[in-house]
Amino acid sequence: MYLSPEEEKIYDGEYGEAKKIAIRLLYSLGELGGAEKLIPIKSAHVSGVSFKNIGQGGLNFLKKISDKVAVPTTLNPLGFDLTENGPVDIDDTFREKQMEVIRVYNEMGIMNSYTCTPYYFYNEPRFGDHISWAESSAITYANSIIGARTNRESGPSALSAAIIGKTPDHGMHKTENRYANMIIKPYKLLDYSQLAALGLLTGGIVKGKIPLIKGQKGAKLFEIKAFAAAFGASSSVPIFHFEDITPESKLVKEKSEVVEVSESEINETMDKFSGDSQPELIAIGCPHLSVEELNYIATLVRGKKKTGPDLFLFTNRKVKEEARDAVREIENFGGKVFVDTCMVVSPLSNKYHRTATNSGKASFYLPLNEYGNQQVTFRGILQLMKWVIS
Ligand code: F3S
Repeated sequence: MYLSPEEEKIYDGEYGEAKKIAIRLLYSLGELGGAEKLIPIKSAHVSGVSFKNIGQGGLNFLKKISDKVAVPTTLNPLGFDLTENGPVDIDDTFREKQMEVIRVYNEMGIMNSYTCTPYYFYNEPRFGDHISWAESSAITYANSIIGARTNRESGPSALSAAIIGKTPDHGMHKTENRYANMIIKPYKLLDYSQLAALGLLTGGIVKGKIPLIKGQKGAKLFEIKAFAAAFGASSSVPIFHFEDITPESKLVKEKSEVVEVSESEINETMDKFSGDSQPELIAIGCPHLSVEELNYIATLVRGKKKTGPDLFLFTNRKVKEEARDAVREIENFGGKVFVDTCMVVSPLSNKYHRTATNSGKASFYLPLNEYGNQQVTFRGILQLMKWVIS
Protein backbone atom coordinates (compact mmCIF):
# COMPACT_ATOMS: atom_id res chain seq x y z
CA MET A 1 0.00 0.00 0.00
CA TYR A 2 1.30 3.44 -0.93
CA LEU A 3 2.04 5.90 1.88
CA SER A 4 2.59 9.60 1.15
CA PRO A 5 5.86 11.18 2.39
CA GLU A 6 3.94 12.63 5.36
CA GLU A 7 2.37 9.25 6.18
CA GLU A 8 5.85 7.66 5.93
CA LYS A 9 7.04 10.07 8.61
CA ILE A 10 4.17 9.05 10.88
CA TYR A 11 4.98 5.40 10.13
CA ASP A 12 8.61 5.98 11.14
CA GLY A 13 7.57 7.50 14.46
CA GLU A 14 8.47 11.12 13.76
CA TYR A 15 5.14 12.27 15.23
CA GLY A 16 5.25 10.06 18.31
CA GLU A 17 4.54 6.55 19.44
CA ALA A 18 0.72 6.69 19.46
CA LYS A 19 0.45 7.88 15.83
CA LYS A 20 3.09 5.32 14.82
CA ILE A 21 1.05 2.47 16.35
CA ALA A 22 -2.13 3.83 14.75
CA ILE A 23 -0.79 4.14 11.20
CA ARG A 24 0.97 0.78 11.39
CA LEU A 25 -2.29 -0.88 12.38
CA LEU A 26 -4.08 0.83 9.45
CA TYR A 27 -1.25 -0.12 7.13
CA SER A 28 -1.51 -3.81 8.09
CA LEU A 29 -5.28 -3.79 7.58
CA GLY A 30 -4.85 -2.04 4.23
CA GLU A 31 -2.30 -4.59 3.08
CA LEU A 32 -4.60 -7.44 4.13
CA GLY A 33 -7.60 -5.89 2.38
CA GLY A 34 -5.74 -5.02 -0.81
CA ALA A 35 -5.98 -1.23 -0.37
CA GLU A 36 -3.75 0.94 -2.56
CA LYS A 37 -3.81 3.96 -0.27
CA LEU A 38 -5.30 5.65 2.77
CA ILE A 39 -8.27 7.96 2.23
CA PRO A 40 -9.57 10.79 4.47
CA ILE A 41 -12.58 10.05 6.69
CA LYS A 42 -15.33 12.38 7.89
CA SER A 43 -15.87 10.72 11.28
CA ALA A 44 -15.10 7.75 13.51
CA HIS A 45 -17.11 5.79 16.04
CA VAL A 46 -15.26 3.80 18.66
CA SER A 47 -16.46 0.69 20.52
CA GLY A 48 -14.68 -0.95 23.44
CA VAL A 49 -15.77 1.52 26.09
CA SER A 50 -17.30 -0.59 28.84
CA PHE A 51 -14.63 -1.84 31.23
CA LYS A 52 -16.68 -5.05 31.37
CA ASN A 53 -15.73 -5.69 27.72
CA ILE A 54 -12.20 -4.33 27.40
CA GLY A 55 -10.75 -5.19 30.83
CA GLN A 56 -7.29 -4.12 32.00
CA GLY A 57 -5.65 -5.23 28.72
CA GLY A 58 -7.87 -2.89 26.71
CA LEU A 59 -7.24 -0.02 29.11
CA ASN A 60 -3.46 -0.53 28.81
CA PHE A 61 -3.73 -0.46 24.99
CA LEU A 62 -5.77 2.75 25.14
CA LYS A 63 -3.13 4.48 27.23
CA LYS A 64 -0.46 3.43 24.74
CA ILE A 65 -2.34 4.77 21.73
CA SER A 66 -3.68 7.91 23.44
CA ASP A 67 -3.40 10.91 21.13
CA LYS A 68 -5.76 13.63 19.91
CA VAL A 69 -8.30 12.50 17.33
CA ALA A 70 -8.20 14.23 13.93
CA VAL A 71 -11.92 13.90 13.05
CA PRO A 72 -15.25 14.06 14.97
CA THR A 73 -15.35 10.83 16.95
CA THR A 74 -18.09 9.29 19.08
CA LEU A 75 -18.06 6.57 21.74
CA ASN A 76 -20.16 3.45 22.29
CA PRO A 77 -21.99 2.80 25.59
CA LEU A 78 -20.08 2.18 28.83
CA GLY A 79 -20.81 0.00 31.86
CA PHE A 80 -23.25 2.24 33.78
CA ASP A 81 -25.35 5.39 33.54
CA LEU A 82 -23.05 8.27 34.48
CA THR A 83 -25.97 10.59 35.14
CA GLU A 84 -28.06 8.43 37.48
CA ASN A 85 -26.09 5.20 38.03
CA GLY A 86 -27.66 1.85 37.22
CA PRO A 87 -29.05 -0.24 35.64
CA VAL A 88 -27.43 -2.40 38.38
CA ASP A 89 -25.11 -1.75 41.32
CA ILE A 90 -21.41 -1.96 40.56
CA ASP A 91 -18.40 -2.23 42.85
CA ASP A 92 -15.83 0.53 43.44
CA THR A 93 -13.11 -1.16 41.39
CA PHE A 94 -15.35 -1.41 38.31
CA ARG A 95 -16.40 2.24 38.74
CA GLU A 96 -12.80 3.45 39.08
CA LYS A 97 -11.58 1.44 36.09
CA GLN A 98 -14.52 2.61 33.98
CA MET A 99 -13.82 6.23 34.87
CA GLU A 100 -10.17 5.74 33.91
CA VAL A 101 -11.25 4.47 30.47
CA ILE A 102 -13.48 7.53 30.06
CA ARG A 103 -10.66 9.87 31.12
CA VAL A 104 -8.33 8.47 28.45
CA TYR A 105 -10.99 8.86 25.74
CA ASN A 106 -11.82 12.40 26.94
CA GLU A 107 -8.16 13.42 26.76
CA MET A 108 -8.15 12.28 23.15
CA GLY A 109 -10.96 14.74 22.36
CA ILE A 110 -13.65 12.11 21.75
CA MET A 111 -17.31 13.12 22.28
CA ASN A 112 -19.16 11.95 25.40
CA SER A 113 -21.87 10.30 23.32
CA TYR A 114 -21.84 6.82 24.92
CA THR A 115 -24.29 5.41 22.42
CA CYS A 116 -24.52 2.84 19.65
CA THR A 117 -26.91 5.15 17.76
CA PRO A 118 -24.56 8.13 17.28
CA TYR A 119 -26.39 8.84 14.02
CA TYR A 120 -29.18 10.31 16.19
CA PHE A 121 -27.75 13.77 17.00
CA TYR A 122 -24.00 13.24 17.64
CA ASN A 123 -22.39 11.95 14.49
CA GLU A 124 -24.62 12.05 11.43
CA PRO A 125 -22.86 10.88 8.28
CA ARG A 126 -24.27 11.66 4.85
CA PHE A 127 -24.67 9.45 1.83
CA GLY A 128 -21.29 8.65 0.30
CA ASP A 129 -19.19 9.83 3.28
CA HIS A 130 -16.13 7.71 4.05
CA ILE A 131 -16.12 6.98 7.77
CA SER A 132 -14.44 4.51 10.11
CA TRP A 133 -16.92 3.03 12.53
CA ALA A 134 -16.85 0.20 15.01
CA GLU A 135 -19.99 -1.33 16.63
CA SER A 136 -21.66 -3.79 14.30
CA SER A 137 -25.19 -2.35 14.62
CA ALA A 138 -23.97 1.17 13.82
CA ILE A 139 -21.78 -0.08 10.94
CA THR A 140 -24.67 -1.89 9.25
CA TYR A 141 -26.95 1.11 9.85
CA ALA A 142 -24.46 3.62 8.44
CA ASN A 143 -23.63 1.55 5.34
CA SER A 144 -27.10 0.30 4.57
CA ILE A 145 -29.62 2.88 5.77
CA ILE A 146 -27.56 6.05 5.34
CA GLY A 147 -25.33 4.97 2.47
CA ALA A 148 -22.12 6.11 4.20
CA ARG A 149 -19.05 3.91 3.72
CA THR A 150 -17.27 2.01 6.45
CA ASN A 151 -15.67 -1.36 6.81
CA ARG A 152 -16.46 -3.45 9.85
CA GLU A 153 -13.91 -1.83 12.12
CA SER A 154 -12.88 -2.94 15.58
CA GLY A 155 -12.45 -0.51 18.48
CA PRO A 156 -8.65 -0.28 17.92
CA SER A 157 -8.88 0.16 14.13
CA ALA A 158 -11.60 2.84 14.38
CA LEU A 159 -9.54 4.62 17.02
CA SER A 160 -6.43 4.43 14.85
CA ALA A 161 -8.38 5.91 11.93
CA ALA A 162 -9.70 8.65 14.24
CA ILE A 163 -6.13 9.59 15.25
CA ILE A 164 -4.76 9.58 11.70
CA GLY A 165 -7.97 10.93 10.11
CA LYS A 166 -7.75 8.29 7.39
CA THR A 167 -8.65 4.68 6.65
CA PRO A 168 -7.44 2.12 4.07
CA ASP A 169 -9.35 2.36 0.80
CA HIS A 170 -10.82 -1.12 0.36
CA GLY A 171 -13.95 -3.18 1.00
CA MET A 172 -17.05 -1.06 1.67
CA HIS A 173 -15.27 2.11 0.52
CA LYS A 174 -15.49 0.86 -3.08
CA THR A 175 -18.84 0.86 -4.89
CA GLU A 176 -18.15 -2.46 -6.62
CA ASN A 177 -18.12 -4.25 -3.24
CA ARG A 178 -21.51 -2.94 -2.15
CA TYR A 179 -23.71 -4.91 -4.57
CA ALA A 180 -26.32 -7.34 -3.22
CA ASN A 181 -25.79 -10.90 -4.43
CA MET A 182 -28.54 -12.69 -2.51
CA ILE A 183 -32.28 -11.89 -2.53
CA ILE A 184 -34.32 -12.54 0.63
CA LYS A 185 -38.12 -12.68 0.21
CA PRO A 186 -40.01 -12.74 3.54
CA TYR A 187 -43.61 -13.98 3.43
CA LYS A 188 -45.06 -10.55 4.36
CA LEU A 189 -44.28 -7.06 5.68
CA LEU A 190 -42.67 -7.71 9.08
CA ASP A 191 -42.78 -5.74 12.34
CA TYR A 192 -39.86 -4.71 14.62
CA SER A 193 -39.17 -8.00 16.40
CA GLN A 194 -39.95 -10.07 13.29
CA LEU A 195 -37.39 -7.97 11.38
CA ALA A 196 -34.95 -8.58 14.23
CA ALA A 197 -35.59 -12.31 13.86
CA LEU A 198 -35.13 -11.99 10.08
CA GLY A 199 -31.80 -10.28 10.76
CA LEU A 200 -30.62 -13.19 12.90
CA LEU A 201 -31.87 -15.70 10.33
CA THR A 202 -30.39 -13.86 7.34
CA GLY A 203 -27.03 -13.46 9.08
CA GLY A 204 -26.93 -17.23 9.45
CA ILE A 205 -27.52 -17.94 5.75
CA VAL A 206 -25.66 -15.25 3.79
CA LYS A 207 -22.20 -16.83 4.15
CA GLY A 208 -20.44 -13.61 3.22
CA LYS A 209 -22.99 -12.53 0.60
CA ILE A 210 -24.81 -9.18 0.70
CA PRO A 211 -28.59 -9.55 0.99
CA LEU A 212 -31.34 -7.47 -0.64
CA ILE A 213 -34.53 -7.78 1.41
CA LYS A 214 -37.73 -7.60 -0.63
CA GLY A 215 -41.32 -6.68 0.18
CA GLN A 216 -40.77 -4.43 3.21
CA LYS A 217 -41.99 -1.13 1.78
CA GLY A 218 -43.66 0.65 4.70
CA ALA A 219 -41.15 -0.57 7.30
CA LYS A 220 -39.96 2.29 9.51
CA LEU A 221 -36.26 3.09 9.81
CA PHE A 222 -36.18 2.12 13.50
CA GLU A 223 -37.60 -1.26 12.51
CA ILE A 224 -34.86 -1.72 9.92
CA LYS A 225 -32.42 -0.71 12.69
CA ALA A 226 -33.60 -3.84 14.56
CA PHE A 227 -32.74 -5.91 11.47
CA ALA A 228 -29.36 -4.15 11.16
CA ALA A 229 -28.36 -4.95 14.74
CA ALA A 230 -29.44 -8.60 14.59
CA PHE A 231 -27.84 -9.12 11.17
CA GLY A 232 -24.61 -7.55 12.48
CA ALA A 233 -24.68 -9.94 15.45
CA SER A 234 -25.15 -13.15 13.47
CA SER A 235 -22.89 -12.32 10.50
CA SER A 236 -19.82 -10.26 9.74
CA VAL A 237 -21.31 -8.75 6.56
CA PRO A 238 -21.27 -4.95 7.00
CA ILE A 239 -24.09 -4.02 4.59
CA PHE A 240 -27.54 -5.06 3.35
CA HIS A 241 -30.20 -3.42 1.21
CA PHE A 242 -33.99 -3.13 1.55
CA GLU A 243 -35.76 -2.88 -1.79
CA ASP A 244 -37.24 0.59 -2.45
CA ILE A 245 -36.14 1.82 1.00
CA THR A 246 -32.37 1.94 1.46
CA PRO A 247 -30.42 4.33 -0.81
CA GLU A 248 -28.36 1.76 -2.71
CA SER A 249 -31.02 -0.92 -3.15
CA LYS A 250 -30.58 -0.75 -6.92
CA LEU A 251 -27.07 -2.21 -6.56
CA VAL A 252 -27.94 -5.85 -7.23
CA LYS A 253 -25.95 -8.46 -9.13
CA GLU A 254 -27.79 -10.30 -11.88
CA LYS A 255 -28.61 -13.95 -11.18
CA SER A 256 -28.48 -13.51 -7.40
CA GLU A 257 -29.66 -16.52 -5.42
CA VAL A 258 -33.25 -16.09 -4.12
CA VAL A 259 -34.23 -17.33 -0.65
CA GLU A 260 -37.87 -17.29 0.48
CA VAL A 261 -38.51 -16.91 4.21
CA SER A 262 -41.73 -18.34 5.65
CA GLU A 263 -43.72 -17.42 8.74
CA SER A 264 -42.62 -20.62 10.48
CA GLU A 265 -38.94 -19.81 9.87
CA ILE A 266 -39.37 -16.41 11.54
CA ASN A 267 -41.18 -18.02 14.50
CA GLU A 268 -38.60 -20.80 14.78
CA THR A 269 -35.80 -18.21 14.82
CA MET A 270 -37.49 -16.34 17.66
CA ASP A 271 -37.95 -19.62 19.54
CA LYS A 272 -34.32 -20.62 18.94
CA PHE A 273 -33.12 -17.45 20.70
CA SER A 274 -35.79 -17.55 23.39
CA GLY A 275 -36.72 -19.51 26.48
CA ASP A 276 -40.08 -19.14 28.19
CA SER A 277 -39.01 -18.34 31.75
CA GLN A 278 -40.82 -15.66 33.77
CA PRO A 279 -38.66 -12.56 33.31
CA GLU A 280 -37.35 -10.49 36.22
CA LEU A 281 -36.55 -7.67 33.81
CA ILE A 282 -38.05 -6.32 30.59
CA ALA A 283 -35.23 -4.58 28.67
CA ILE A 284 -35.90 -2.47 25.57
CA GLY A 285 -33.43 -0.40 23.58
CA CYS A 286 -30.85 -2.55 21.83
CA PRO A 287 -29.87 -0.63 19.72
CA HIS A 288 -30.51 2.55 21.73
CA LEU A 289 -34.01 3.95 21.27
CA SER A 290 -34.93 6.88 19.03
CA VAL A 291 -37.29 9.73 19.96
CA GLU A 292 -39.97 8.07 17.81
CA GLU A 293 -39.65 4.78 19.69
CA LEU A 294 -39.80 6.45 23.12
CA ASN A 295 -42.90 8.38 22.04
CA TYR A 296 -44.52 5.13 20.91
CA ILE A 297 -43.71 3.34 24.18
CA ALA A 298 -45.17 6.29 26.11
CA THR A 299 -48.48 5.75 24.30
CA LEU A 300 -48.53 2.13 25.48
CA VAL A 301 -48.17 3.01 29.17
CA ARG A 302 -50.07 6.31 29.30
CA GLY A 303 -52.22 6.61 32.43
CA LYS A 304 -51.27 3.11 33.66
CA LYS A 305 -49.21 1.83 36.60
CA LYS A 306 -46.55 -0.86 36.26
CA THR A 307 -46.91 -4.28 37.82
CA GLY A 308 -44.58 -7.31 37.65
CA PRO A 309 -40.95 -7.24 36.51
CA ASP A 310 -38.70 -4.19 36.22
CA LEU A 311 -38.94 -2.25 32.94
CA PHE A 312 -35.67 -0.69 31.70
CA LEU A 313 -35.27 1.32 28.51
CA PHE A 314 -31.93 2.38 27.02
CA THR A 315 -31.11 5.40 24.89
CA ASN A 316 -28.62 8.28 24.66
CA ARG A 317 -28.64 11.62 26.50
CA LYS A 318 -29.74 13.76 23.59
CA VAL A 319 -32.62 11.47 22.62
CA LYS A 320 -33.73 11.34 26.28
CA GLU A 321 -33.69 15.13 26.43
CA GLU A 322 -35.54 15.48 23.13
CA ALA A 323 -38.20 12.93 24.21
CA ARG A 324 -38.53 14.33 27.75
CA ASP A 325 -42.35 14.23 27.79
CA ALA A 326 -42.39 10.58 26.77
CA VAL A 327 -39.67 9.80 29.33
CA ARG A 328 -41.76 11.47 32.06
CA GLU A 329 -44.79 9.32 31.14
CA ILE A 330 -42.71 6.14 31.11
CA GLU A 331 -41.13 6.99 34.47
CA ASN A 332 -44.54 7.91 35.96
CA PHE A 333 -45.70 4.49 34.83
CA GLY A 334 -42.82 2.91 36.77
CA GLY A 335 -40.29 2.26 33.99
CA LYS A 336 -36.74 3.60 33.99
CA VAL A 337 -34.92 5.21 31.06
CA PHE A 338 -31.15 4.83 31.20
CA VAL A 339 -28.51 6.62 29.11
CA ASP A 340 -24.76 6.02 28.52
CA THR A 341 -25.06 2.24 28.89
CA CYS A 342 -27.03 -0.76 27.66
CA MET A 343 -28.39 -4.13 28.68
CA VAL A 344 -25.41 -5.99 27.18
CA VAL A 345 -22.39 -3.89 28.19
CA SER A 346 -23.53 -3.21 31.78
CA PRO A 347 -22.95 -6.00 34.31
CA LEU A 348 -26.63 -7.01 34.30
CA SER A 349 -25.98 -10.35 35.99
CA ASN A 350 -25.01 -8.47 39.19
CA LYS A 351 -28.76 -8.46 39.80
CA TYR A 352 -30.76 -10.15 37.02
CA HIS A 353 -30.80 -13.65 35.56
CA ARG A 354 -33.96 -13.73 33.44
CA THR A 355 -34.49 -10.96 30.91
CA ALA A 356 -37.14 -10.50 28.23
CA THR A 357 -36.45 -8.24 25.25
CA ASN A 358 -37.69 -7.42 21.75
CA SER A 359 -34.10 -7.16 20.46
CA GLY A 360 -32.64 -9.84 18.21
CA LYS A 361 -29.11 -8.64 18.95
CA ALA A 362 -29.63 -8.72 22.72
CA SER A 363 -31.24 -12.16 22.44
CA PHE A 364 -28.10 -13.31 20.64
CA TYR A 365 -25.60 -11.88 23.17
CA LEU A 366 -27.34 -11.86 26.56
CA PRO A 367 -27.27 -15.65 27.09
CA LEU A 368 -23.48 -15.73 26.63
CA ASN A 369 -21.45 -15.93 29.85
CA GLU A 370 -19.18 -13.02 28.98
CA TYR A 371 -22.06 -10.71 28.00
CA GLY A 372 -24.91 -11.27 30.42
CA ASN A 373 -25.42 -14.89 31.41
CA GLN A 374 -29.18 -14.37 31.11
CA GLN A 375 -32.06 -16.68 30.35
CA VAL A 376 -33.60 -14.66 27.53
CA THR A 377 -37.17 -14.43 26.31
CA PHE A 378 -37.37 -12.83 22.85
CA ARG A 379 -40.84 -11.37 22.13
CA GLY A 380 -42.53 -8.47 20.34
CA ILE A 381 -43.04 -5.28 22.33
CA LEU A 382 -46.79 -5.75 22.83
CA GLN A 383 -46.18 -9.16 24.36
CA LEU A 384 -43.43 -7.73 26.57
CA MET A 385 -45.79 -5.04 27.80
CA LYS A 386 -48.34 -7.65 28.92
CA TRP A 387 -45.91 -8.56 31.72
CA VAL A 388 -45.90 -5.04 33.14
CA ILE A 389 -49.41 -3.79 32.39
CA SER A 390 -52.11 -5.54 34.42
FE1 F3S B 1 -26.22 -1.01 21.36
FE2 F3S B 1 -25.63 -2.36 23.49
FE3 F3S B 1 -27.28 -3.33 21.72
S1 F3S B 1 -24.23 -1.21 22.28
S2 F3S B 1 -26.67 -2.49 19.76
S3 F3S B 1 -27.63 -1.52 22.96
S4 F3S B 1 -25.63 -4.43 22.66
